[in-house]
Amino acid sequence: MVKVGILGLGRYLPSKKLTNSDLEKMVDTSDEWIRTRTGIKERRIAALHEKTSDLATKAALSALRDAKISAEKIDLIVVATISPDSNFPSMACKVQKAIRAHKAAAFDVSAACSGYLFALTTAKQYIQTGLAKRALVIAAERISGLIDWKNRDTCVLFGDGAGACVLGPVKSGGILADFLQAFGAQGDLMQVIAPEARSPFHPAKAAYTQLPYVQMKGQELFKVAVNSMADAVEKVLKKAKIKKTQVDWIVPHQANDRIISAVANKLGVPKKKIFINIDKYGNMSAASIAVALYEAKKSKKIKKGDKVVLVTFGAGLVSAANLIKW
Ligand code: ACO
Repeated sequence: MVKVGILGLGRYLPSKKLTNSDLEKMVDTSDEWIRTRTGIKERRIAALHEKTSDLATKAALSALRDAKISAEKIDLIVVATISPDSNFPSMACKVQKAIRAHKAAAFDVSAACSGYLFALTTAKQYIQTGLAKRALVIAAERISGLIDWKNRDTCVLFGDGAGACVLGPVKSGGILADFLQAFGAQGDLMQVIAPEARSPFHPAKAAYTQLPYVQMKGQELFKVAVNSMADAVEKVLKKAKIKKTQVDWIVPHQANDRIISAVANKLGVPKKKIFINIDKYGNMSAASIAVALYEAKKSKKIKKGDKVVLVTFGAGLVSAANLIKW
């Protein structure tokens, strides 16, 4: 079986920062509440002209530069997103056009905050079965467009951004094991409902233009997040027959610093082995792990030979983990 690994990493973050003190002026909240309950200090917000596909394209170009591979060599593009700028064409097709990856097949994956790992595992299978040789896996979210900026329960948590990697055959190491799971029955814990008001036959014409917003049952989600992420780590390590003590780094989805601490406790893993950057970006949904992995590698925390677990949960509900040997 062909070994598949990460050949290059990239990211793009909008320049506009929204700090906790900015949010204090928008809703009834405080820097102290946000920091102690979530660990977030600031997040990035895309400019009005910046679409999800623009964020995805910039992250893709950054990953191609890092891998020193030209776009013509890419034969698969998978974009993970729940905030596309159009239902169709897909974000992947827009990226393909923008970077001129003429030979690439392209499609999107919708798995909320687990999207990057679902996309990574999907692209890996394409390469292992010979359908593709080199893939661009991108996670891009302009989640600010799905947030009710008058609702303090949700607006303090999220931010925009994009991360990407180039996947291809490697001689040793690479992605050693994958774990994907879904709990559709718990889908109502976090959702963006496109209301029936979107129908042209709806009597409430005023509601017709209402945007759908993120709705979330935060406390219930918190418990599920901790259990499903800890379980996903255990499962992926069991598959690879690797002990927790052999893991060098865990790069988790960055939804809440308290969730990350609780996962570390449940697993009995010291928090210093867990990469955290939620303070700078908040929850960027699918893009969180993609950006965190880029930063863990570029800051030289992840070194050659390290065993790294990526783990996530997200709306759906869906959870996932991958074990990578660098
Ligand atoms: N500022 C100030 N006060 C607030 C804010 C705010 N932004 N938001 C809520 N509060 C208030 C509440 O109204 C409540 O007040 P009350 O006690 O008078 O009723 C009080 O703070 C406590 O609220 P809780 O909901 O109990 O706060 P909790 O400690 O549970 O933290 C949080 C809330 C941060 C949302 C937490 O539950 C959480 O992180 N849950 C998981 C959320 C998550 O991970 N979402 C994304 C997952 S899926 C994905 O990533 C796509």
